[in-house]
Amino acid sequence: MADESELTGAAPRRRPKPDVLAINNRRLKPATLMMGHGFDPALSEGSLKPPIFLTSTFVFENAAAGKRHFEGVTGKRPGGSEGLVYSRFNGPNQEILEDRLGLWEDAEDALTFSSGMSAIATLLLTFVQPGDVIVHSGPLYAATETLIGRILGRFGVSWLDFPAGATRAEIEGVIARAKSQGRVSLIYLESPANPTNALVDVEAVAAARDALFVEEERPPIAIDNTFLGPLWSKPLDHGADLSVDSLTKHAGGHSDLVAGGVVGARALINPIRMMRNTIGTITDPNSAWMLLRSLETLELRMSRAGENAATVCAFFRDHPKVESVGYLGFLEEGSRQADIYRRHCTGAGSTFSLYLKGGEREAFAFLDALKIAKLAVSLVGTETLASAPAAMTHLSVPDARKAALGISDNLVRISVGVEDADDLIADFDQALATV
Ligand SMILES: Cc1ncc(COP(=O)(O)O)c(C=O)c1O
Repeated sequence: MADESELTGAAPRRRPKPDVLAINNRRLKPATLMMGHGFDPALSEGSLKPPIFLTSTFVFENAAAGKRHFEGVTGKRPGGSEGLVYSRFNGPNQEILEDRLGLWEDAEDALTFSSGMSAIATLLLTFVQPGDVIVHSGPLYAATETLIGRILGRFGVSWLDFPAGATRAEIEGVIARAKSQGRVSLIYLESPANPTNALVDVEAVAAARDALFVEEERPPIAIDNTFLGPLWSKPLDHGADLSVDSLTKHAGGHSDLVAGGVVGARALINPIRMMRNTIGTITDPNSAWMLLRSLETLELRMSRAGENAATVCAFFRDHPKVESVGYLGFLEEGSRQADIYRRHCTGAGSTFSLYLKGGEREAFAFLDALKIAKLAVSLVGTETLASAPAAMTHLSVPDARKAALGISDNLVRISVGVEDADDLIADFDQALATV
């Protein structure tokens, strides 16, 4: 019998092409796969790039397909929906983005969210119940601390923390104490910590957790990998189960969108997906599309910004008006932080702390004199940003805690972009001259 396409003259419907992940046993790198992985142009009129799918719902092939999809959406079958259903659950742009995001950290599965904070909130709501204790490293991003301490606290959840640089014995002590207070349902880390840049020993945390939870169910280890992820730190390789990222930062990279991601073990991603389906914290199609575009240049941008930061920090370190530079590339040889860095990180990042000689007056004079670097919070976009945490992002932090975290009035936080490094040095040099 004639194919329908022969009768109508239409091109036969083509099946999606399988993704090519390796050539002659060579596993292709994420930088290569960002240009096409997870998208078949044949499904979108041959369009080289994925269109933005602005629709709130999708048409089912037949009623049985609709039922099968809902079995996935509601969790009757693990792994999510096999097809597209409704844009609060999934969509083509988000699915392509999630396929690509997971590649950077060799993750089994990935989810994307409307912001870094909605990713963190969805993760916490998935695993934590009233009466539970969360063990976390400190400090955490301020909104995460508020969410755990003040908001989940309203629902009977408590927390115990250990300092970011803690040893295995210290971490084990805190987890054991937490266990005596209630069910430990989650171990939540942030490394490097915001704003101290202190690194957490993820291997030590995993060893401590495994030693203390032999018979019982082990609490998952989730880590905020925003500062060095996804290029310079792969915490899943060191014992974390879930890696969280504010995609607003490196992944988006142009300071023009807000989004978040969680990547990791499929068995843990599945319940987070169920929670996301319920509360609707998925990325919107437009931001997902912008992130696909951004991911094509992720390695280029991060590499250039990392090189720029190294050059700029070397300039600051020798300047007479600078007291010190808090940069992961300058960790003291033989120190515990340097040891964690060597085991966990492949790059020092592009955000660092500059301590000027003086106080707020000197910091403000420097910031006000900058001509290229913009005076703004946020970080790791293409452009260089500078701010004074004590007077801005951390203004409401009590003085004693500020002092403990090293957030002094002479601190300027700098996020270096992809501009010409010598132009940036010329700008910083003239700004220091006004101090
Ligand atoms: C370490 C860290 N985690 C989480 C977030 C929250 O991300 P978002 O602003 O995308 O919600 C931020 C934001 O700056 C951050 O720096």
